Amino acid sequence: MTATTPPSTVPGDKSIAHRALILAALGHGESRLRNVPAGLDVRSTQRALRALGVAIRDDGDVLVVTGSGGALFAPGEPIDCGNSGTTIRLLTGALSTRPLTVTLDGDASLRARPMRRVAEPLAAFGARIELAPGGTAPVVVHGNGDARGAAVAITVASAQIKSAVLLAALGARGTTRLTGELATRDHTERLFGAFGVVCEREGDALVLSGPQTPHAVELDVPGDVSSAAFLLAAAAAVPGGRAVVADVGLNPTRTAFFDVLRRFGADVDVTETGAAAEPSGFVRVRGAALRAITIEPHEVPGLIDELPLVGVLGAFAHGTTVVSGAAELRVKESDRIDTFAAAARALGVEVDTFADGFAVHGPARWRDGDVVTAGDHRIAMAFAVAGRAAGVRVTLDDPDCAAVSFPGFTAALEALR
Ligand code: S3P
Repeated sequence: MTATTPPSTVPGDKSIAHRALILAALGHGESRLRNVPAGLDVRSTQRALRALGVAIRDDGDVLVVTGSGGALFAPGEPIDCGNSGTTIRLLTGALSTRPLTVTLDGDASLRARPMRRVAEPLAAFGARIELAPGGTAPVVVHGNGDARGAAVAITVASAQIKSAVLLAALGARGTTRLTGELATRDHTERLFGAFGVVCEREGDALVLSGPQTPHAVELDVPGDVSSAAFLLAAAAAVPGGRAVVADVGLNPTRTAFFDVLRRFGADVDVTETGAAAEPSGFVRVRGAALRAITIEPHEVPGLIDELPLVGVLGAFAHGTTVVSGAAELRVKESDRIDTFAAAARALGVEVDTFADGFAVHGPARWRDGDVVTAGDHRIAMAFAVAGRAAGVRVTLDDPDCAAVSFPGFTAALEALR
């Protein structure tokens, strides 16, 4: 770290925090979770768990969760999961093997997102999960308190689906064996270890014998590398630009973006300083004149939340940057292929879209413009980065939606040298 580049910090990791809260809530005893992010998505998980009867209190910078030992209560009304796909999908899984009926709902964006992808694999546990006619929320989970372990093949590379099934397996009697698309972020598996839950890799399968009740933990949530990515990209896009982010999670299933920055031509230096359940450390980026890159389909799960930023960086790079195999982008908080393309074009960037990705022709001739975020936090932040790095005025229709994952984002971006 150089004296001239003061480190930024980012809020705690959203994916880790959702899982830690849910495991603590299902567990025995008092868990103490430090650096739980204040973003709206993680608040949705806290609100949902409280509605299920779990006590969560603030103790300074620590959240204290009193585990239910698995004895949750069904609230009389639907639980509002806000904008958070992770909240609704992971809780659908966790509740599917508990003896209660619970309705999970969310905002208009969440109500547009596919839920059959979790309902179908969870049927293997004998849970009955009702969806709206389009296969969307509201989700009514009729949990099966007598669930048996099951063999489940995961057919979509989604950590949310994998995690929903793993959380269901905790409440089921006997062996659950997951196969298929398991090469996604592995926070649930790592946190299982921290919470004393035994889940083993057997060849290509993940195997868990239930029921198991997590024990209480003390856990520090590292900074969210997907939030850090916006600050790192802002530096990478400008020759000589610099950013250092400290105390950030370095789980290898989440750090593919560092390599992407290097392929674009930026200089990236990573130093691991802590290795608990999740490794963490600091990352330093120095910007350069960028050259176009291609993202292959097999890289997509490791970069899923960073792809709008890949598109923005492509607009600074010489040549055509192509992302393919990323049809999943169409079912994120917005259709991130169309929302990205419309926003980029509004700023003078040439973009082609495909069913499963996009091509960006760089370097763009940037101009001031108005960006429609569709309420999507990652689109809002990606184009705030674009405006700053290109030196054009970007007017976001909903800048506040960044608070879903990164409250304080605008100040953090402005604080970069
Ligand atoms: C997440 C998994 C990803 C990611 C989302 C968080 C998680 O979604 O896009 O922001 O915490 O498991 P999918 O599992 O649907 O790919």
